[in-house]
Amino acid sequence: MQDGFGRKIDYLRISVTDRCNFRCQYCMSEKMTFMPKSELLSLEEITLIAERFISHGIRKIRLTGGEPLVRRDMKDVIQRLGRKVKSGELEELTLTTNGSLLTEYADHLADHAVRRINVSMDTLDPDRFSEITRGAKVETVVDGIAAAKAAGITVKINMVALRNFNEADLLPMAEFCAANGHDLTIIETMPLGDVGADRTLAHISAEEFLAPLNDQYTLKPIPHRSSGPARYVSVEPLDLRLGMITPLSNNFCDDCNRLRLTTDGKIFMCLGHNAHVDLRAAIRKDGITAVDQLLQQALKLKPLRHDFNAQLNGSAEILERHMNVTGG
Ligand code: 5AD
Ligand code: SF4
Repeated sequence: MQDGFGRKIDYLRISVTDRCNFRCQYCMSEKMTFMPKSELLSLEEITLIAERFISHGIRKIRLTGGEPLVRRDMKDVIQRLGRKVKSGELEELTLTTNGSLLTEYADHLADHAVRRINVSMDTLDPDRFSEITRGAKVETVVDGIAAAKAAGITVKINMVALRNFNEADLLPMAEFCAANGHDLTIIETMPLGDVGADRTLAHISAEEFLAPLNDQYTLKPIPHRSSGPARYVSVEPLDLRLGMITPLSNNFCDDCNRLRLTTDGKIFMCLGHNAHVDLRAAIRKDGITAVDQLLQQALKLKPLRHDFNAQLNGSAEILERHMNVTGG
């Protein structure tokens, strides 16, 4: 598959639920309301859509949310898509999770061909962790990460950079990741959904956020690429691979290879744009073959770039969609 700008599209992210057992301040408001269950794609719909996409050239699937592991039939979702990796139809099945349920899920993931996961953890400090997530315990996540590692899964940690909040947590986090063999990725905040706070306050560029690490260690750019938009450096002599996702300070859209399937079955072509097609409505009306035509339509809708800077400085409207619906 190619979009209108000639970019090859082979990576699909599926948000399997908008629900989450955390309430991270930059992601949700405290009283977030979730979709009625009937709006969600069913296990059968997810499987059928994934199969259809694979036949059109999708090679990698990432399951996200919300917190994907709170979905009731998540073990079945993992099993069914894991089968596609085992058969060679998919190259890779990955997961983005908050880590809180990994002690329960690690072996199941490993058994069903999930070899890499991303765990979101913005600080190792128990009080600050509880503050940013509005009540979660960092130990459950640290234990979950250990369980995943013990099951043979490669873990990358995602840390959102938050001004006046977790700058001092970067060094301990880098050292924790280096000691345990995890990659670490720093993510700049993106203006998505109304979370009831002023975002311009929280935003800090990755470059500024990395200053304390830069003072203490040497950061060398390396050519490593994962399937996402992160750019990597090697932190020496820690021997840590550090990624940076910098949607605001650097535009990474030129080689974007992604499509997103939302919890309620819409295809969004970009985290930062509202253009989408409604697959769920079409397949509930016309059956699964409706996917083929809509997919072609969706590819033409993929924009060249996101508009986050304009959204942040107020010259464009903040998107109504939250990250937990579209998937991270
Ligand atoms: N900006 C940047 N990152 C975000 N995440 C959730 N909401 C936002 C936002 N507004 C992060 C989560 C997780 C990943 C999927 O996206 O922390 O690591
Ligand atoms: Fe849940 Fe992830 Fe959103 Fe935090 S960022 S509330 S863990 S979906």
